[in-house]
Amino acid sequence: MLQSHQSELHDRLDTGVTELSTFRDHERPGWSREVFSEAYRASREWTANRMRAAGLEVHLDAAGNIVGRLAGLDPSAPALVTGSHTDTVDGGGRFDGVVGVLGAIEAARLLAAGGRQLRRDLLVVDFLGEESNVFGLSCLGSRAAAQELTPADLDRCDYRGVSLGRAYTDFGLDPAKLSDVPWARRPLQAFVELHIEQGPTLEQRGLPLGIVTAITGIERFIASFAGSADHAGTTSMEDRRDAMIAAAEGVLAVRAEGCGAPTHGVATTTRVDSESRSPNVVPSLVRMYGEVRSVDPGWLSGVQGRLGAEITARAAKLGVDVGFEWSSDNAVVEASRGVQDVAGAAADTLGLPWMPIPSGATHDAVHMASLAPMGMIFIPSKNGKSHCPEEWSSTEDIAVGAQALVATLQRLDGGDTRPQH
Ligand code: GLV
Ligand code: MN
Ligand code: MN
Repeated sequence: MLQSHQSELHDRLDTGVTELSTFRDHERPGWSREVFSEAYRASREWTANRMRAAGLEVHLDAAGNIVGRLAGLDPSAPALVTGSHTDTVDGGGRFDGVVGVLGAIEAARLLAAGGRQLRRDLLVVDFLGEESNVFGLSCLGSRAAAQELTPADLDRCDYRGVSLGRAYTDFGLDPAKLSDVPWARRPLQAFVELHIEQGPTLEQRGLPLGIVTAITGIERFIASFAGSADHAGTTSMEDRRDAMIAAAEGVLAVRAEGCGAPTHGVATTTRVDSESRSPNVVPSLVRMYGEVRSVDPGWLSGVQGRLGAEITARAAKLGVDVGFEWSSDNAVVEASRGVQDVAGAAADTLGLPWMPIPSGATHDAVHMASLAPMGMIFIPSKNGKSHCPEEWSSTEDIAVGAQALVATLQRLDGGDTRPQH
C-alpha cells in the first residue's frame, strides 16, 4: 500500500474511534452507547455520513441496519458483505464492533480508490443492537435480516415491563416489517467481519491476526428460588428455608459447571435479585440470572440437564424449590472453511502471521452465517480486556486488520464459486 494511503488510513481510523466515542450516555459508566438509547440514535447519523463520505450509497433497512453499497461491475453477481456494530454494553469500551464498522468503511474506501472496480457489489453494514440488551437478546439487526427474530422475541420485556416490539416502535422502526430486508434476500457470496479478539491470546502470542474457526453457542437462564419468609431474629439457622443461601449454592454450581468443561466452556452468574426489601426477613424469593457458553455443541447441549439437576439438588438440601427458564441466544456456529482459507491466504500474501482461533464472544456473523459463507478476522485486544472502559486496540493493529479485510474481500470478489460452507 502507498505510504500516503497508509497514513490516511491510520488517521481516519484514529479520528473515527475518537469521534464515535463522543456519542455516549454520560449518566452511565464507560463509553456506554446501548441500543435504543439517545446516544446510539445520535451516533447513527455520524456512521451514515462516514459511509457516504467513503463513496457508499447508504440506506437504513427495515431491521434498523445502516447499509452502504459500493457498486460492483456486475450487480447480478452474488454480493460481498462486511460490517459489525456500533452499540456497546452498559459500561463498555470504544472498540468492540466499532473496529469492524470503521474497518469495513475504510476497506470500501480503499477498494474504491484502488482504481479497479470490484466485480461484485460490496455491502458495508452497521448492524442494529448486537450486544445483549435489557431484553436479554443479542444481534437484533443481523437476527432480523436472517429472519431469525421471532414474534416471541418481540414480546420479551425489560425490567420495566416494556416489550422489545415497543422499543422498536419508539425507535422509529415497524416491528411487523423487521425481516423485510431485500439486501439479505439476494444471493450473497460471503460475509466477513473484522473484530477485536476481546481476549488475550493474540497479544500473548505476539500475532497481529486471528482467523476465527467457530463462534460460541450461548444458553441463558433465570433460576427462581422459592423458600419461606420468616423472622430473621427468631428463626433458628436450622429451621430456615432461605432462598438466598440456595441461590448462593447456585452461583457456586454455575462456576463448577464452567470449570468442569472438558474443552472450552464458561459459565457466569451475572445478577442475583431478592424480593425481600427488609433486612429482618429471611429471603423467600430470589432470582438468579446467568449464561453458559461453549464452542463444543455436545457439552453445551447437556448443560440445561446437568446444571438444572445440580442446582435443584443443592437447593433441596435447604428446603428450597427451584424453577428454571432457559433461552438459547445462539447455537455454536462454525466459520466457513472456504472463507477461513481465503482470509489465511490473504494474510500470508501480506506477510502477516496469524493463528486459527475460536470466538468465546458472539457476533452478527452468527446470523449472517445462515445467509452466506461466513468468516471473521480478529486483531489483538490490550490485556485481553473487553466489555469494560479499558478495552483498547492500537490504531496500528486496527489498520493491519483493515488491510487484511481488503485483501480478503479482493480474493473473495475474484472467486467464481461460493466459498465452501
Ligand atoms: C457480545 O459481545 C457477546 O459475546 O455477548
Ligand atoms: Mn462485538
Ligand atoms: Mn460485545
